[in-house]
Amino acid sequence: MLVTLEGLDGSGKTTVWEALHDRYPDAVFTREPTDDSWYGDAVNRAIGDDDADPLATLFLFTADHADHLSRVVRPALEAGDLVISDRYSDSRYAYQAASLRTSELKRPMEYIMGIHAAFTRPPDKTIYLDVDPETAAARSGSTNKFEQAAYLADVRANYERLIEAEPERFIKIDATQSPEAVLDEVEAAFDEILAEE
Ligand code: TMP
Repeated sequence: MLVTLEGLDGSGKTTVWEALHDRYPDAVFTREPTDDSWYGDAVNRAIGDDDADPLATLFLFTADHADHLSRVVRPALEAGDLVISDRYSDSRYAYQAASLRTSELKRPMEYIMGIHAAFTRPPDKTIYLDVDPETAAARSGSTNKFEQAAYLADVRANYERLIEAEPERFIKIDATQSPEAVLDEVEAAFDEILAEE
């Protein structure tokens, strides 16, 4: 089973992902962008480059996803492992659709989903850590171009669209609570997901 964690920068997603290591020691923990491949290195260069072309950046992220799928996610799922990914395809649908909002693409989110549809493995469940864009920008320190409040407001609106389209896949958690309260809710959500399975 594949469970993904999504949320704006500063939602506490990575802290939650780290805490889950202790609770599910046998799970395969992974992330996007990947941090152990040259595809991931290329993505990180694009994230740090304020002048990077947004469409080129989409394809770098998507290339990293293809490599992540074939190298990590599919083999682990075939072995019957629980896979927990810190960010996954929804990050592209939310973030790159916002980056491409004013581009020549008419419907950026549909376009990005279309590219993925041919080859991706959708998550079984997605835990979405919800924070308002101002909190997200303040917590993340706005250190890269994806972390500005106005941009994050668009990203959040895109996540809301995704949740509306697939309410059964998403579990939305209020991430403005204390880290302990967020973690308690995430753990309860996981217990439920694994019990359902
Ligand atoms: P991280 O903070 O979770 O490591 O992600 C790095 C940044 O990359 C973050 O600002 C979100 C952004 N991002 C995208 O824009 N699209 C994607 O597909 C992914 C995985 C991350």
